[in-house]
Parts: sequence; structure tokens; C-alpha cells
Amino acid sequence: MPKAIVMDEQPGKPGKVYWPLKSITVPLPTPGPNEVVVRILCAALNHRDLFARQKLYRGAAGNIPILADGCGIVVSAGSSDNEKKWQGKRVLIAPARGWNADLRGPEREFAILGGTKQYPDGTCQEFICVPSSQVLACPPHLSDAEAAAIPLAALTAWRATMVKAVVSSGQRVLVTGIGGGVALFALQFAVAAGAEVWVTSGSAEKVARAVELGAKGGVSYKEKDWAQKLLKHTSKGGKSGLFDAVIDGAGGDVITAAVVLLRTGGIVASYGMTVGPKVVFPMPAVMKNIEMRGSTMGSLAELADAVRYISSKRIVPVVDSVHSLPNIEDAFDVMKVGRNFGKIVVRVQQESAKI
Ligand SMILES: NC(=O)c1ccc[n+]([C@@H]2O[C@H](COP(=O)([O-])OP(=O)(O)OC[C@H]3O[C@@H](n4cnc5c(N)ncnc54)[C@H](OP(=O)(O)O)[C@@H]3O)[C@@H](O)[C@H]2O)c1
Repeated sequence: MPKAIVMDEQPGKPGKVYWPLKSITVPLPTPGPNEVVVRILCAALNHRDLFARQKLYRGAAGNIPILADGCGIVVSAGSSDNEKKWQGKRVLIAPARGWNADLRGPEREFAILGGTKQYPDGTCQEFICVPSSQVLACPPHLSDAEAAAIPLAALTAWRATMVKAVVSSGQRVLVTGIGGGVALFALQFAVAAGAEVWVTSGSAEKVARAVELGAKGGVSYKEKDWAQKLLKHTSKGGKSGLFDAVIDGAGGDVITAAVVLLRTGGIVASYGMTVGPKVVFPMPAVMKNIEMRGSTMGSLAELADAVRYISSKRIVPVVDSVHSLPNIEDAFDVMKVGRNFGKIVVRVQQESAKI
């Protein structure tokens, strides 16, 4: 029987527990009329998967396959042509349900795959059955691991960068915490759009790697007055070095920094608050007409836009490491200590494995 990785729920307070993982067996799914069954080749981690194990994620629950990102091959399909066309194709699985195309937000109750009660299925298993409307063709220039890195992080970065911050050619943009999966896609999208991109990181080595990917440079968010230091870098030759937008997943002092860095009416697109669940919005930000725009993942239509952009610009997602299924704990350990530069991927099975 096919294998699935689930969390083993343990008693304890949120933040004080770390639910162990266990491997279970599940029946091989059969597709309904509008469904396809995907043999998962690679799955990828997001920060939410770590929060879920710590019981810090809404609806986190045991005995449900974990992870939201997956790439695989369609091995069986429902009866109509719409489903049959996917047979044998390498696909990405949409990481959420309930949000089709509305620019403002989900049309129905929004649920993300992987380890929660809201949608009791996930990609860290050998086979998954999903509606055929929820798969997208894999960009052919990518390996399985690179493709599996796309869904949740690229969608989040796409909406924050291209939809909410409306980044375009010639703009100056800051992407904070560049080591993260979302931040790296934001950098790649903004660079591909022709923007001048700067970054922050806790590590000088990560800034250097971001420069190799097209960033102009960066500073450490651990330094006091990092925003003033960054502005010195961008304001050479008497020219104003102000920014048009900040793409942020950290929170903390981001708005205080934005007051220093942004032009009047500049935009902060906030897709996360790793540092803590609140930010202060001080009066100088109001006086400067700064707009803070919350951004959560995105619609299925936006995912399709992001995947098309990745294909047309031949963007290669940054994969930090690929771990085998039996070594999945190593994958979580990399994320726990924040050592990663890019996405952490799990190889679920080889394409040639027998059903
Ligand atoms: N709203 C959504 O739809 C959505 C979707 C995905 C993720 N998120 C949230 O976005 C955040 C990042 O997610 P991820 O999966 O990309 O995480 P990840 O791959 O684990 O990366 C964690 C990130 O936190 C950064 N960081 C840590 N402390 C920081 C600080 N003081 N200032 C600036 N950056 C700091 C790290 O930067 P360095 O490594 O460069 O130091 C790294 O970029 C998480 O809070 C997550 O919950 C939200």
C-alpha cells in the first residue's frame, strides 16, 4: 500500500510541542469522474509546516498527510476528455482550495493542503487524488525538485510582488529576509520584471548569493539602523535612493524601516510576520502616505500566471536541499535553524517506482 507521512498529535501547549512524524499506509486512490490521481515525485516544505508541528498553525491536525507543495505524474484520470488529457503528464498541484480568481481574496472558505483539518490531504504521500481543475502543467525546463518548489512560495511571491506591490521595470524594490523560499521567488520575479532589487538577510553569505541571482546588494537586518545603511548604498552621487516597494515576510520593524526607505506613497506588501504577529504603523508612515498591503498566497488564476511567467522567463527556483523520504526530519531541521537558502524539498518517489 502507498505510504504517507503524517504528524502524530501530542498533548501540550502551542509553541511548546513538536509533533513527531510517522509513516502510515493508505489505500491507492481511485479517481472520480472529475479527478486525477498523481504519483508524487517531489514535495516541498513551507514555514507553515514547521508551525503546524509546533501547533502554531490554525487547524493543525495529526493523521493527515503533511505538506502543500507537490510535483508528480498523473497515473489515472476520470472518464472525460478534460481529465484524460492529463494522463501521463508531469504536473504541479495547486496548494490551496476555495480561491479561483477574485483579486480581493478567496470566494469560498480558503484551505491549504497539508496537515490541517480544513483540507484533510497533503502532498507528502506517494499518491494523491485531486480535482483535475487543481493541476497545472509543469514548466518543462525544471527538474522535479525545482518544480515542486513552485506552488505555495511562488504563488505567495507573485501576488505580493506583482499584484499587490505592482512591481515594474525601473522601480527600486527591497525584499527582506532573502534566504526564505517566498523571498527568493520575489527577488526572481522583480529582477525578471526589470526592477532594481535590494535585499536584507541575517547572513552576509545569503546576500552574496542573492547578488548572483540579480540583486544589486543588501544589508544585514541584524545591524542597528539597517534601513539608513541601505539608503546610503542606494543614494550615491547626490541622487535620491528611495524605494518604490518593500516585499516583506518578517514584520518586526519593517514599517519603521519603510518610513526611511520608501518614496511618498510607497507600498509595503506584507505576506508574513516571522518575527512576531504584530507590526507598529507609526504616524510618520501615515504622513508619508505609505500603504501597507496584506497579501496571502493567491488565487488559482494567479498561480497559473506565476507558472506562465516562470516558463516564459525561464526562471529556475532556488532549491536549498533535497532529502529522501526516510530522512524527512533532516529537511525540517534545516528549516528550524534557518540555514536554508531557498526551498527544502523531499524526494517522495522515483518516476520508475512500481505501483
Ligand atoms: N501569507 C502567506 O500566504 C504566506 C505564504 C508563505 C509564507 N508565509 C510566511 O512568510 C514567512 C516566510 O515563509 P517562508 O516559507 O519563505 O520561510 P523560510 O523559507 O523558512 O524562511 C524564513 C525567512 O525568515 C527570514 N527572517 C528571519 N528573521 C528575520 C528578521 N528579523 N528580519 C527579516 N527576515 C527574517 C529569513 O531570512 P534570512 O534567512 O535571509 O536571514 C528567511 O527569509 C513565514 O512567516 C511564513 O509563515 C506567508
